[in-house]
Amino acid sequence: MTTRLTKAVIPAAGLGTRFLPATKAMPKEMLPVVDKPAIQYVVEEAVQNGLTDVLMITGRNKNALENHFDSVPELESALELKGDQTKLLTVTQPADLADMHYVRQGAPRGLGHAVLRAQMHVGDNPFAVLLGDDLIDERDNVLGPMIAAHKKHDASVIALMEIPKDLTDHYGIATVESVGEGDLVRILDLVEKPAPEDAPSNLAIIGRYVLKPDIFEVLDQTLPGKGNEIQLTDALRHMATNNIAGGVYGYIFRGRRYDTGDKLDYIKAIVRLALQREDLGPLLEQWLDVESHRRK
Ligand code: UTP
Repeated sequence: MTTRLTKAVIPAAGLGTRFLPATKAMPKEMLPVVDKPAIQYVVEEAVQNGLTDVLMITGRNKNALENHFDSVPELESALELKGDQTKLLTVTQPADLADMHYVRQGAPRGLGHAVLRAQMHVGDNPFAVLLGDDLIDERDNVLGPMIAAHKKHDASVIALMEIPKDLTDHYGIATVESVGEGDLVRILDLVEKPAPEDAPSNLAIIGRYVLKPDIFEVLDQTLPGKGNEIQLTDALRHMATNNIAGGVYGYIFRGRRYDTGDKLDYIKAIVRLALQREDLGPLLEQWLDVESHRRK
């Protein structure tokens, strides 16, 4: 039996050390991608997939995140007085998106530990996890097929992406077998951040998961792993290799994805998304052309 999937958990309690000093006093999820903070794209993606109950796992500097998804009466009335409906909408939209909830992680003891903090809120329901710094291009859809696979197989489903082999030590890496359903595979094994020479494949776990609530019990028993952190990958490995609650499936995503916690990917996300915009695209394209000729 599958239950209706309406809950999204967004871990956003990491330290964001790759982006210091920008993240010294602000969570990396608040860094703007063009003119919206990265986290807003992630919440919008959850809502577009029917996940309207959003629990954010926050850490230090949580105020900016909470404030962004709240109303700001003084700013709203100032814009109303000016009659600027367009800007007013950009201010009110985030607060109207979803039913937002927050819980603090305490200490950043790893992604698995952050997800475990959602247990009380999620209860005995399946739920999705969307990493707050992982941005999926709005033109592509990863959660839709994952939710469909979860419903069909009544099992947990994780998103995978093919990566260059020399980057395996940045990701959880999967050993898979085909189930004869296109880009859906069965997870046989997982390993967190292996060196390229030890990696069993080039299929990396990216920041989207549809999980059965049985993961909580497993996480509760999971000891600190790589980096002395409680790893979600280790708990998923246990579920996959012991066939717990239907085991784990992987959906190989072939669309556009940006890790906004990584400097180069962050810049790429801004350029790509700005190029799509009617107000910025043509001028930016012109400038990029001139700039690339100037540098030759
Ligand atoms: P990262 O691996 O990107 O780590 O976390 P990080 O600490 O955020 O960033 P760097 O590497 O120091 O720059 C992946 C996701 O898991 C969340 C992060 O917020 C991010 O969305 N996370 C990680 C937590 O919520 N809690 C943790 O203890 C660790």
